[in-house]
Amino acid sequence: MAENGNGLMEKLVALCKRRGFIFQSSEIYGGINGFWDYGPLGVELKRNIKAAWWEDIVRKRDDMLGLDAAIIMNPRVWEASGHVGGFSDPMVDCRQCKARFRADMLIRYRLYECSHLPASISLADVGSIIQGSPSYEFRAESGATLEDLQVIIRRETGNRRAKADVRPRDDGFGERFVEIGGKEYYISDFIERILKAGEHCPKCGGELTEPRQFNLMFQRYVGGVHDDSAIAYLRPETAQGIFADYKNVLDSSRVKLPFGIAQIGKAFRNEINPRNYTFRSREFEQMEIEFFCRPDEAARWYEYWRDARFQWYVDHGLTSSKLRLRDHEADELAHYAASCADIEYAFPFGISELEGIANRTDFDLRQHQEYSGRDLTYFDDETKERFLPYVIEPSGGVDRTALAILCEAYSEDEAPDENGVMQQRVVMKLHPRLAPTKVAVFPLVKKEGMPEIATEVHEQVKSAGIVSFYDEKGAVGRRYRRQDEAGTPFCVTVDGQTLQDGTVTIRDRDTLAQERISKDEVLAYVRDRLG
Ligand code: GAP
Repeated sequence: MAENGNGLMEKLVALCKRRGFIFQSSEIYGGINGFWDYGPLGVELKRNIKAAWWEDIVRKRDDMLGLDAAIIMNPRVWEASGHVGGFSDPMVDCRQCKARFRADMLIRYRLYECSHLPASISLADVGSIIQGSPSYEFRAESGATLEDLQVIIRRETGNRRAKADVRPRDDGFGERFVEIGGKEYYISDFIERILKAGEHCPKCGGELTEPRQFNLMFQRYVGGVHDDSAIAYLRPETAQGIFADYKNVLDSSRVKLPFGIAQIGKAFRNEINPRNYTFRSREFEQMEIEFFCRPDEAARWYEYWRDARFQWYVDHGLTSSKLRLRDHEADELAHYAASCADIEYAFPFGISELEGIANRTDFDLRQHQEYSGRDLTYFDDETKERFLPYVIEPSGGVDRTALAILCEAYSEDEAPDENGVMQQRVVMKLHPRLAPTKVAVFPLVKKEGMPEIATEVHEQVKSAGIVSFYDEKGAVGRRYRRQDEAGTPFCVTVDGQTLQDGTVTIRDRDTLAQERISKDEVLAYVRDRLG
């Protein structure tokens, strides 16, 4: 794993396993790279993220409709979308240790080392580093910036004003360009040149194969016959299901522009180098909106969604300066996009994208209209115009959102144990709406009728649809600590005083403040604070 502030990533991964947030898939068989399982707490966190998104995006709005399209679609969909032809990464294999790398990532390994400014680095190295490194990818992987490169160049050339004119651009399918000295190059051209100049395996130093284009879609045969006519793909994004069903939704719901179609679902990409925990997985979930509008209103809706989506993450606990909104430069845009912005999070392994918001113009509907031969135009009965709507696409990932939320929530501080002695604690300060368990109820001891009263409180909270956890095992301090690690906002304890006056203590996870309230008020108290 790459650079990682105070070992946060290792601590988080350990906590996620220990407490049952995230496990490696099929771990008992040695795991499988790029696939993850969500344990009892993780599945609740993920469900809460998806439920909050669905509630806010679909149910609370009058201009949004939901969809659940199939994962396997007619393969023509992926020809129309450009994924069959263009959704690929250049890949190299090590002839010696058989490790496989994205060729453009290799340069980043070197770049990562260079960002630490080693004592000596040749000018030739600087040249190949610059040539192979679109700045945003570089930042994502290493946490360093283009400015770091400038420092290297200046030091090496002795020219204090030297400047790398590196301008990344992404055509939307992984093929990238850089501009050096006013000239534009495909990254893949550089990869070839750099490999010829003797790039070796970063793991064992072995010789590498020539780069090959590697399509990221998982291919399957559908039905009993295994020939080209039976080839289909696991969807690499949920978006195309929305475009393919756009006319069905329009005709069946009789909605008028502007309106959106929203979908949450699994997507699959055969990533060459899955990395950074769940950040880049081969199986993941997306939360996507395609918002259809009049072309002359697209710029306004783009602004609206860009701001609304950013605020949604803030509202769900990503309140630190680690969350940021980055507008793409004009020369960074995919050829079909009029504008694009990324909502990014500064993970311990670098600044990376959580969600992209793009004005995709009428590109997708036009492509599907052409490939399907169906009329996908919209007739505006007020203006009597017929046209293809423009589309604003806010496209986010459930797993990346969960990971950012877990990173942001992780904190270490001190809390008193049962004897009042301060002890180190790890606490997941999860937003209450997203916390897997909302309330934990404990009897102080397993006797004197305390378990009965605690069970009664627990049942009352649970039957109101609020996730409650009952725990009577072990010292109460340890029970608190388990709930702190699980991110449970409220812990209720039934103690000796409860037997006399019917009050319980309720402890706030973040402030550690304890209040005494009547056992019959617990539900109302919690409901109030969960909003
Ligand atoms: N329809 C547009 C689209 O799919 P994308 O930027 O390729 O755009 C959108 O993906 C979101 O899906 C990303 O912002 C990210 O949150 C998530 N995502 C993409 N690839 C992923 C992967 N390999 N692992 C986890 N999440 C991924």
